[in-house]
Amino acid sequence: MKKILIAYFSHGGENLIENTIQDIGPVGNTAKAAQILQGNLVAMGLEADLFEIEAKEPYPFSYMDTANRARQEKMMGTKPAIKEGPEGFEGYDLVFLGYPNWWGTCPQAVLSFTSTHDFRGKVLVPFVTHGGQIFLYSIEDIRATLIGGDIINGFAISASYMNGAEAVIKDWIENNSEILL
Ligand SMILES: Cc1cc2nc3c(=O)[nH]c(=O)nc-3n(C[C@H](O)[C@H](O)[C@H](O)COP(=O)(O)O)c2cc1C
Repeated sequence: MKKILIAYFSHGGENLIENTIQDIGPVGNTAKAAQILQGNLVAMGLEADLFEIEAKEPYPFSYMDTANRARQEKMMGTKPAIKEGPEGFEGYDLVFLGYPNWWGTCPQAVLSFTSTHDFRGKVLVPFVTHGGQIFLYSIEDIRATLIGGDIINGFAISASYMNGAEAVIKDWIENNSEILL
């Protein structure tokens, strides 16, 4: 049986949903999607571990402060320090990598993760939650940092339609079951 990891970055607290700043609570959209994905994989009898990619210096609650820091990091190409893990990364065959679209790409903390983990021999499945721009530049930005690894097509979930996340994930699983087994 394949060993599956779901690594994700997510920002709870304030977010911009349909042009309005809203507190979406402590569990961000990508974290919710990651949990739904794990639930579906486990229901198929597969084992899938969750791992949250976290910046050592957490992003603030405020949308504006987070947006400013994220923009600055992107402009400067900063890769913020992240917490270590997951343990035993080398043992995973398939890595789902989830993140929100931030400024047209993934948060820089995701690049901190991809550039410090050896993906050789692994299949990487990106998934994104977004305000309309889907993956945009994130795949090429991730690819540029990767040591090995084979990126395949993942899935995208709209932040304004999180109720549809389960259907998107089930659909992806149905169309990609040979990768999982
Ligand atoms: C700092 C920041 C920048 C964002 N930039 C974009 C963007 O450029 N394009 C887009 O479609 N959505 C953008 N969004 C919306 C998020 O991608 C979306 O709300 C996502 O679901 C948030 O996921 P999370 O709760 O897991 O962090 C941005 C959100 C934040 C907080």
